[in-house]
Formats: sequence, structure tokens, C-alpha cells
Amino acid sequence: MIGVFDSGSGGLTVLRVLRERMPNVDIVYFGDIKNAPYGNKSREELGVLTVLGIERLIREGATEIVSACNSVSVSIVLPMFEILDLPHANIVEMVGPTVSGLRGTEGKVLVVATHATIESNAYQDGLRMVGVSADGLALPDLVSLIEGGASDDAMREYVHNALAPELKEDHTHLLLGCTHFPLIRTIFTDVVKEVQPTCVIVDPALSVAGVVAQRFRDAGGGTTRFVITEDSPVFVKFVQEYCGITQPNIEVR
Ligand code: DGL
Repeated sequence: MIGVFDSGSGGLTVLRVLRERMPNVDIVYFGDIKNAPYGNKSREELGVLTVLGIERLIREGATEIVSACNSVSVSIVLPMFEILDLPHANIVEMVGPTVSGLRGTEGKVLVVATHATIESNAYQDGLRMVGVSADGLALPDLVSLIEGGASDDAMREYVHNALAPELKEDHTHLLLGCTHFPLIRTIFTDVVKEVQPTCVIVDPALSVAGVVAQRFRDAGGGTTRFVITEDSPVFVKFVQEYCGITQPNIEVR
């Protein structure tokens, strides 16, 4: 059983692609809504929450883990595998597969993500390691707006005000380095069209799901189960509308 981990609704963007690629595997999704947003927390706090979240998924029966949260990617470091007693091969995080998928990209990438992800420099350094230039831009309030069910107009205004001055002519790619952001992809598309129309938007879910499908076996009953730490009508709405699961099995614990 694959366990998918995020602070809330963001990991659903990975889950959706994963389900398309792997229709048979059983999936348990953990959304730590009570502690969201993760992106404004310190590296120390994120390390603790990551261990707790992954241990929780293991208790739920997960034998393989997908960390569908960019903000904790820097926490997925070597000591953690020993703490969790989990073979390295059984965990997939966001940054490695995404950087690998962008290898050979001509041009320059603008990474938009949470404060924690941008501060960690994980994407910027990773991309430079494979010869791709990158800039980073934190959008620190966007996850709260999404999880709080803000109106499209409010989110559009926020994205426009933050992104328009930073998206330059030499930015050929805009990398959505927070799994929450593809939930409002149309807003990013509109702003990019207006400011820098040739810029290509990249959703890491595709590369991540590709690695998961290669590494883990697509065997099981095809069930999807959700465990969240706080009740959230916004989460339920995304599960139904974004993932197309009309009668989801969601437990609040
Ligand atoms: N969706 C997560 C990410 O990709 C976490 C966002 C948050 O909780 O701030 O970073």
C-alpha cells in the first residue's frame, strides 16, 4: 500500500496523477491539516512533523511512501531513513524526480513555492547541479488562501501582485514547487499569459508519479482512503472536484 503525505490538500495534485498511472494499487493519503501550512515553519519543526506523518502512514499499513510535500523535502535526509527503519528505495519525495525531469532544459526556471522550500534552496541548487539556471520566489500566503477557501479573485490578485514583477523575459519555465499550486493552475496560467506568454508551466506531479510508477508495483484493490487531522470542507471539495472521487472515504483523526 502506498502512503501519500502532505500538510493538507496539496498532495491531491500528486494523488490524481498517481491514480491515473497506477489504477490498482491501494493508497492511503495523510493530510496534516491541523498543522498546515507547513511552508512557514522552521526546518526543525518540519523535520518532526515529517517523521510523525510518515510513521502515521506506516501505522495505517503503508509500505511505500510518497512525500507529496515540497516543504519537507529537505527533511527527507539520510538520518530519517534510519529513524524510520525504512529502506531508502521505498520513499519518493518531490525535488529529486522533478529536477531529474528538467535535466537538459534550455533557458531559465522560476521556482514558485513556500517560504520553507525556497529558503532551503533545494530546487535552485538541484537544478544548477544538472546545469539548469533557476531563480526562486516564495509565495508565503498562497497555501493559507487555498486551504482557507479564498475566492478566485482574491487568489488571482495575490498571485498577480507577487508573480508579475518577478517573472522576467528570460524565465522560460515556471515550476510550481508547492503541490498546492496546481490546484489553482488556471490562475497561474492567466497571470503567465498576461506577463510572459511563452513561459511553460511545470507541474512536478508528472515526474513524481512517473518515478513512483517505475519503482512501486501497481497491485492491489485500487482503494483510496484519506486520513486528515482536522475536518475541512475545502479538503472534501478538492477530493471530489479535483480528484473526481464523489464519495470519498475520509476519516478525521
Ligand atoms: N503542499 C506542500 C508543499 O508542497 C505544503 C504547503 C504548506 O503546507 O505550506 O510544500
